[in-house]
Amino acid sequence: MQENIQNNSNSNSPQFNPTQSGGASGAINERYTQLSETSCCLSCGGAINHAKPQLGEICVDLGSGRGNDVIRLAEEVGEEGYVYGIDISEGMIAKAKANLGKFEVENAEILKAELENLPLQNDSVNLVISNCTINHASNKQAVWNEIFRILKPEGRFIVSDIYATSPIADEYRNDPVAIAECWAGAVTKEEYLTALETAGFKNLLVYEESAPYAKGQAEVASWTIEGRK
Ligand SMILES: C[S@@+](CC[C@H](N)C(=O)[O-])C[C@H]1O[C@@H](n2cnc3c(N)ncnc32)[C@H](O)[C@@H]1O
Repeated sequence: MQENIQNNSNSNSPQFNPTQSGGASGAINERYTQLSETSCCLSCGGAINHAKPQLGEICVDLGSGRGNDVIRLAEEVGEEGYVYGIDISEGMIAKAKANLGKFEVENAEILKAELENLPLQNDSVNLVISNCTINHASNKQAVWNEIFRILKPEGRFIVSDIYATSPIADEYRNDPVAIAECWAGAVTKEEYLTALETAGFKNLLVYEESAPYAKGQAEVASWTIEGRK
C-alpha cells in the first residue's frame, strides 16, 4: 500500500526533531530492544478488543512492539484491507517483521517512525490503535495532531494508555529512563483530554479505566478511549 506512505520530508505536519526529545528515544530503543525477545506483557488495556476492525479497512498500530496486534488486525481486515505498524525500537521492529514473515502476513508492514511524525498520507486511515505507547512521546499534542491528520473523516482511534493522577515530579518528567519505563511521560487526565480536544476529536468514549496504582515514582491509572475525527 505504497500510496498511503508519505516521505516525512514532504509532510505538512509540524516536523519533529528527535534531538529535542531529551534523549528519551535512545532509552526507549534500548529498553524495548531488550524486551523484544521476551514474552512479558507490555500492554495496559484492551484497545484491540474494542476496535472492531471491518473488512477492507486501513489500520495503524502506534507502538506496534512485537507485532501481535498488527497480525490480528491484518487477519480481521482481510486481503482488501491493510495494516501499518509503527515503532521506533530496532529490536521490536526486527521481531515484528520476523513475526509477520512467520505467519505469512501479506497485508501489513512495519514502518520505523516517531509518533510525532507519521509517514502516512492525510485522510488515509480508517482506524488507529495504540497500546501503552503514547505516554512515551515527548510532544503528545503533536502525536494527537498526527493521528487526526492521517485519519479519514469519521475515522476512529482506540487507545489504551496511562495517565498520571497528579503531575509527574520535575525531577522525573525529563528522565529518559523513567520515560522509557512507561510512567514519567504520563500527563494528567485533564491534559490528556485537552490534547484530544485541541487536535479536533469528538465523540470521546472511555471503555475501560483502572483504579489508580503505583508505577515507578508516580501514581497512574490505565484507560482505553475512543474518539472520532
Ligand atoms: C509498552 S510497549 C507496547 C507494545 C505493544 N503495543 C503491546 O501492547 O505489546 C511500547 C512500544 O512503543 C514503542 N515506542 C515508544 N515510544 C515510541 C515513539 N515515540 N515512537 C514510536 N514508537 C515508540 C516502543 O518501542 C515499544 O515497542
